[in-house]
Amino acid sequence: MGIKLKPITNGFGAYASGINLSDKLSKKATDEIEAGMDRYAVLVWRESDISDDALVNLAERFGKLEISFLSKVRGKSGPDNKSLVPISNVEDNGQILKRDGRRLGSQIANQFWHSDSSFMRSVAKYSFLSARILPNEGGDTEFADLRAAYETLPNDLKILIDGLVAEHHVFHSRMALGLIYTPEEIAASPPAYWPLVRIHPSTKRKVVFPPVHIRSINGMSDPEARLLVTELLEHSTQKCFCFTHKWEKGDLVIWDNRVTLHRGKRYNLNEPRILRRITTMQP
Ligand code: OGA
Ligand code: MN
Repeated sequence: MGIKLKPITNGFGAYASGINLSDKLSKKATDEIEAGMDRYAVLVWRESDISDDALVNLAERFGKLEISFLSKVRGKSGPDNKSLVPISNVEDNGQILKRDGRRLGSQIANQFWHSDSSFMRSVAKYSFLSARILPNEGGDTEFADLRAAYETLPNDLKILIDGLVAEHHVFHSRMALGLIYTPEEIAASPPAYWPLVRIHPSTKRKVVFPPVHIRSINGMSDPEARLLVTELLEHSTQKCFCFTHKWEKGDLVIWDNRVTLHRGKRYNLNEPRILRRITTMQP
């Protein structure tokens, strides 16, 4: 049986089935998933019920695994494999995270429109997010198609952003939430620089790339840069370029960070919400 894809919107996002993701993937199955990702950018697999080990094996078929910033800051806690990122408001011991702590603040920062790890110097390719425990209400994840967003940008904006390079910093969005970092902490996390217009390596489609991690744009004053990024983000996240995923336990969603933005939606932070993410790097 090969992959089956059922589009969610016109050309963006698809429900995928027909491949058991917990088995070792054949070359054919891997190629089919890559082709589905090139076309739809987000694939939703219902009832995958994938284990941590199987998630690692699956992701490894699509590139080297990233060690995420969240894994680095969480120290010894969490899963043994440092590529498995707990997307969760719960401590290892089952306690809900402190309301005023940095760890919960970092999790809440996922509710800004972002592309995973755009502040890192490696390019994040696919993220794999698996749902384990869900709140009764809310906690959906929204996705935006940056390919369609680029195609529909007004011409003057296309011309303005052509060749511009943006600086992405890990703490920019967190500081916007009021979290406080020392100058030493800020300096210890060097920024990454990415063009505002990027080209997807296999499809060659152009995208506009305005995630929340952008702190400045080379050659522009900060006020101008931040207004421009806001304008690009507003354009890119119009309803017509987006869809919302309502999680069910066992779901696995794979997205291409190079051509999409995503954000979590609000939920009751007193209720546990536990997902696991792995992100692969573009070679
Ligand atoms: C992530 C993320 C959003 C969510 O896992 O990278 O941004 O809804 N998640 O949990
Ligand atoms: Mn994310």
